[in-house]
Amino acid sequence: MTTLAPRPPHPHGLFTAGEPVRSWTVSTAKPVRYEVAFTPDVLDPRNPALARAGAPAPGPAPARRLLVVETTVDELYGDRIRAYCTARGLDHAVHVLTAHERLKTMDAVFSVVEAMDRFGVARRSEPVVALGGGVLLDVVGLACSLYRRSTPYVRVPTTLVGLVDAGVGAKTGVNFGPYKNRLGTYHPAAQTLLDPAFLATLDRRHVGNGTAEILKLALIKDRALFRLLEAYGPRLIAERFQGGPALRPVAREVLGRAVHGMLEELQGNLWEHELERVVDYGHSFSPTLEMRALPELLHGEAVCLDMALTTVVAERRGLVRPAERRRVLDLMRALRLPVWHRLCAPAVLEEALADTVRHRDGSQRLPLPVGIGGAVFVDDLTPDELAAAAAHLKEYHARTAVAGHA
Ligand SMILES: NC(=O)c1ccc[n+]([C@@H]2O[C@H](COP(=O)([O-])OP(=O)(O)OC[C@H]3O[C@@H](n4cnc5c(N)ncnc54)[C@H](O)[C@@H]3O)[C@@H](O)[C@H]2O)c1
Repeated sequence: MTTLAPRPPHPHGLFTAGEPVRSWTVSTAKPVRYEVAFTPDVLDPRNPALARAGAPAPGPAPARRLLVVETTVDELYGDRIRAYCTARGLDHAVHVLTAHERLKTMDAVFSVVEAMDRFGVARRSEPVVALGGGVLLDVVGLACSLYRRSTPYVRVPTTLVGLVDAGVGAKTGVNFGPYKNRLGTYHPAAQTLLDPAFLATLDRRHVGNGTAEILKLALIKDRALFRLLEAYGPRLIAERFQGGPALRPVAREVLGRAVHGMLEELQGNLWEHELERVVDYGHSFSPTLEMRALPELLHGEAVCLDMALTTVVAERRGLVRPAERRRVLDLMRALRLPVWHRLCAPAVLEEALADTVRHRDGSQRLPLPVGIGGAVFVDDLTPDELAAAAAHLKEYHARTAVAGHA
């Protein structure tokens, strides 16, 4: 066997010690660089960011862009999106796509691919622009990663989950059968433009849903962020992370900390070679719960159920103090996120854990909180511990239930 150096020392180097080479090992490294930036007023025609995003230096011909826009986003912002493209001289087409969890399938990916073919997207210089929530971003990302084996794209998240999570990492994906994100790739957008102004039109429940992903980061790595959520979370949700002069700096800090914390964890492990990831916190039982409950539970709500369970498990293991557990559950309640659901039954939780063990290559690698703001991985969670935690939460839920949650 011979290992190929990045550049062979001799163009005819097919003989080693007089013997023809019959086996080769190719080894190469692919540098990855992508940008995520808060970009206020992204649809203001005076702002060149969106027109320039993800493309090589502009040439003499007018730039061409295919935009894939989620249906609701098109209804709310379609006129501004088209006016922006016209004002910036972009030769453009808009593909409107309805995207939510039940439509997160390969059919949606194919519809984007068809739009790319119709538009005749060039291979490198015409990044596809995706404007929408996490589902739309994941679908467009997958289509672009498959199209000609890799086509650049730009993400403009319009939901809170998109802003702090789906828009900032490298993953794309769609659901397959009963499994969440079973088909997917690692294909980060060349650029992600974050404009929190889109949140102004998001309904309350979806803002709460995104806040669950922010809470995840707070619980496993950012105690200051937890305190900010305790002090301002309900108001931030009520005011859609906009607010007047008093609240705006808080919204800025919370969103900034969330994106920064997320990227800190992703950088260095973008392809998930390391399967112990603190950002998997809240994602051990939630994929199964979310898919089983569809369309009842939103992604962040399922993540919150998972975090509530693991917080109680951690308390019972002495990792979280009772007072800390109370603060965590009370904050979840204050954010109007669910802490228990009828699907949190021992058999379902066991199945969920079994699927996660397969996903994590045979070990639980289960992140548990340590106090508020720390985490540890365990491999020995038992069904009894899970059942006891679920029973505790069922009782807490019954005591504190807020109308609107199952
Ligand atoms: N790739 C990743 O790393 C990653 C990370 C986290 C989550 N995700 C995925 O993200 C998805 C959840 O994303 P989501 O919560 O954004 O849900 P979503 O994409 O379903 O969007 C929620 C709803 O918000 C509406 N909407 C979007 N923007 C709006 C706006 N500005 N105003 C009013 N309505 C608007 C949409 O019509 C949609 O019905 C899940 O499928 C999850 O797997 C992916």
